Amino acid sequence: MKGAAPPPGSVVCALAEVADGKSRVVTFGDGFELIVVRTGEAVFGYANECKHLHVGLNLLDDQACETNAATILCQYHYATYRFEDGYCIAGPCQGDSLTAVPLAVRAGRIVIATGSAAK
Ligand code: FES
Repeated sequence: MKGAAPPPGSVVCALAEVADGKSRVVTFGDGFELIVVRTGEAVFGYANECKHLHVGLNLLDDQACETNAATILCQYHYATYRFEDGYCIAGPCQGDSLTAVPLAVRAGRIVIATGSAAK
C-alpha cells in the first residue's frame, strides 16, 4: 500500500462520479488508493488493499469491482467484502475486514471525514 489516507476534509470526488450501487478507485498524489462505494446517498471508503495478499482489489485502473450493488469483489481470488463495513463474507480471507477510511458528503462532494485513521 502506497501513501496514507488524506487528512479529514480532503475532497475525494463529486458524489455524481460514483454511480449508485457502484464503486470507484481514486488515487491520491502520494499513491494512496481509495475504493469508494455508494448505495443511495451513503458512501463508504476503504484502502484499496485486499486482506488476502495485500494487493489492490482491481486488476485495471478504475475497473469496477462491485457485485450486486452490495459487495466489493477482489479480482484476484474473489474475496467478497460488504459495502457497508468492509467485512469479508467469502473467499480466502473470510472474517477479515478492509481498512476503512470514513467519508462524508458535503455540498455534493465526497470528502474524507473526521476520524480517518488509515495509513
Ligand atoms: S488477493 Fe484478493 S482474494 Fe486473493
